[in-house]
Amino acid sequence: METRDYIERENRYGAHNYHPLPVVLERGEGIFVWDVEGKRYFDFLAAYSAVNQGHCHPKIVKALIEQAGKLALTSRAFYNNVLGEWEEFMTQQLGYDKILPMNSGAEADETALKLTRKWGYKVKGISKNEARIVVCNGNFHGRTITIVSMSSDPESYNDYGA
Ligand SMILES: Cc1ncc(COP(=O)(O)O)c(C=O)c1O
Repeated sequence: METRDYIERENRYGAHNYHPLPVVLERGEGIFVWDVEGKRYFDFLAAYSAVNQGHCHPKIVKALIEQAGKLALTSRAFYNNVLGEWEEFMTQQLGYDKILPMNSGAEADETALKLTRKWGYKVKGISKNEARIVVCNGNFHGRTITIVSMSSDPESYNDYGA
């Protein structure tokens, strides 16, 4: 298959919520990625967003394989033997009392909005249902319903209102 074939297949079967560059990436190593034609690129995103550790660092790959061979996923309805260690490390690194891990940026934003509003009502004493979130024009915070309602881009919020 060539670049065009991969793009056509994604466009055919994947829901369109993004406009990717016409490059089909196949593998990565450190700061580099390669496309399906074998062309090498610098990855200035270093993977993506909060997981910008670059590609396939042997220590990370080893830890992933070890964990995947031991225990895949636990619901937060249980404790597990590694979450506390990570939480302790992260709070010490960042200088916060506690941490709540999230699965995505949008989920983190939603949680921040909930936390802020609750603080507004419980601590600051804002009247019931009077809390306001102030955002910037041209913002982008993700694709969940609260967050797209803050958008100034009609493509993001049109047809999702009540
Ligand atoms: C500034 C900003 N906020 C929030 C998000 C949403 O993150 P996610 O796609 O992980 O939900 C993104 C990612 O696209 C972003 O760039």
